[in-house]
Amino acid sequence: MQLENKIVIVTGGASGIGGAISRVLVRRGAKVVVVDINADAGALLEAELGEQVIFLDGDVSREETAQSAVSTAIERFGGLTGLVNNAHASRQAPFLDLTKDMWDLSFSTGFTATRNFMLAAHPQLARSGGSIVNFGSGAALDGQPTQAAYAASKEAIRGLSRVVANEWATEEIRVNVVSPMALTDGVEAWSEAAPELYQRSLANVPLGRFGDPETDVAPIVAFLLSDDSAYMTGQTLMADGGAHKLY
Ligand SMILES: NC(=O)c1ccc[n+]([C@@H]2O[C@H](COP(=O)([O-])OP(=O)(O)OC[C@H]3O[C@@H](n4cnc5c(N)ncnc54)[C@H](O)[C@@H]3O)[C@@H](O)[C@H]2O)c1
Repeated sequence: MQLENKIVIVTGGASGIGGAISRVLVRRGAKVVVVDINADAGALLEAELGEQVIFLDGDVSREETAQSAVSTAIERFGGLTGLVNNAHASRQAPFLDLTKDMWDLSFSTGFTATRNFMLAAHPQLARSGGSIVNFGSGAALDGQPTQAAYAASKEAIRGLSRVVANEWATEEIRVNVVSPMALTDGVEAWSEAAPELYQRSLANVPLGRFGDPETDVAPIVAFLLSDDSAYMTGQTLMADGGAHKLY
C-alpha cells in the first residue's frame, strides 16, 4: 500500500527495526520525522533518504522530546498522521538483581515515552484520523527469565494501547501494537555470543527463521499506518514467524 500524504514520527527510527520502518515508509511516499539518540545513524539516514526525512537528535525518555518531534512534523511537513513508538532500551537481569536504574531505563524509554508521544501527538492525530503503532514483545508474553523490567514495560504499553484504542476511537484515532522478531545487528551479535540460546529461539519459530526488519516487520507497520487498516484498532499483531498465537 502507498503512504502518500502520510506524515509519521518514528522513535528509534535511525537503526534496527526503526531504521527499516523509516526506509519503507519513505519508499511508500510518507514523510518521516526520525527521533533517535544515535546522531551518526540519523545523519546517514537523512543523507540516504533525502528531503522526505528529518532527523531529530532526541532522547525519548525526556518529556520535551515528544513535543519537539510533533512541532517539527508540523513546521517542516505541515501536520502529523501517524506515530510509531519503536524505541525501547533495557537491561536484562534476574528480578532479584534488577537495579532502580534498570527499571527506570526500561520504563522511561518504553512505557513513559510511548505515553508522552501519544499525548503530544493527540491534537494532530485527532485532526487527521491518525494511526498509532506501539511495540510489544514475545519475551513479555512468555515471561522470559531476566526480562522483568522489559516485560512489565512492554505489557504496560499493550494495556495502555487497548484503553486508548477505545477512548480515541470516537476521534478516528487507531492504536495497535506490533510484536516483532527480527534479525537486527543487535540480535545478530547476540546470536554469535549465545549460539545455543539463539538456536533454541529459532526452534520455536514455525517459519524457521528470524524476520528481516525491512521485508518482514516494516510492511506490517506500514499497513497499520495506512488506510487499508482503517477498521483495525486495539490489536496486537505478531510479526514473529508464528512463534506466538494470540486468542
Ligand atoms: N529485535 C527483535 O527481535 C525484537 C523482539 C521483540 C521486540 N522488539 C522491539 O522492537 C523495537 C525495536 O527493536 P530493535 O531490536 O530494532 O531495537 P534496537 O535497540 O536495535 O534499536 C533501537 C533504536 O532506538 C534508539 N534508541 C535507544 N534508546 C533511545 C532513546 N532513549 N531515545 C531515542 N532513541 C533511542 C537506538 O539508537 C536505535 O536506533 C523495540 O521496541 C523492541 O523492544 C524487538
